[in-house]
Amino acid sequence: MYKLGDVVVGRDEIRKKAVLGLAARINEDYAGKEVTVIGVLKGAMIFLSDLVRELEMPVCIDFIVVSSYGVETETSGVVLLVKDIDSDIEGKHVLIVEDMIDTGVTLKYLKELFESRKPATLKVCAAFDKPERRKVDLSADYAGIRLADDFVVGYGLDFANMYRNLPDLRALAEDSGAKE
Ligand code: IMP
Ligand code: MG
Repeated sequence: MYKLGDVVVGRDEIRKKAVLGLAARINEDYAGKEVTVIGVLKGAMIFLSDLVRELEMPVCIDFIVVSSYGVETETSGVVLLVKDIDSDIEGKHVLIVEDMIDTGVTLKYLKELFESRKPATLKVCAAFDKPERRKVDLSADYAGIRLADDFVVGYGLDFANMYRNLPDLRALAEDSGAKE
């Protein structure tokens, strides 16, 4: 059994470092260009909606749905494509928006998939990053907040599809079942 634990990163810090910090860099790097932002559902929905409202260039938004987790806190290592994007990204400046980069397996799959469609550029932006957990050699072009390897929920991140709506990033603690 698990229960909600402490706040790991509060909403103000998420806004300052992940949303505003990364948006400023993206605005600078892509000034005058049109960007196709591809959100990786479901986790990226909250971060993407905060981020795109800070972007100043013309933006197209699309979504891809992938799944790699069961109900456990460890990735299965197999990425399942549940729903592809609708748009043609050939010749476009594509920015993948992820909630979290953990082992990097999901991102490796997505980068290979999109690269094969010949975008003009392809970069990755993630709200959170756990670099110590990497299984593939890969890093985000725009990484917001660096975390240790503990499992977290909130701000789009889930455990068994719960807790995505929490405004802060929270730990998930083992529940011994003892009364508090
Ligand atoms: P990766 O393929 O191992 O990099 O995992 C990427 C996906 O796993 C992320 O987009 C998240 O949806 C999910 N994930 C990774 N770490 C966590 C976590 O601490 N809490 C909830 N979901 C996570
Ligand atoms: Mg997830």
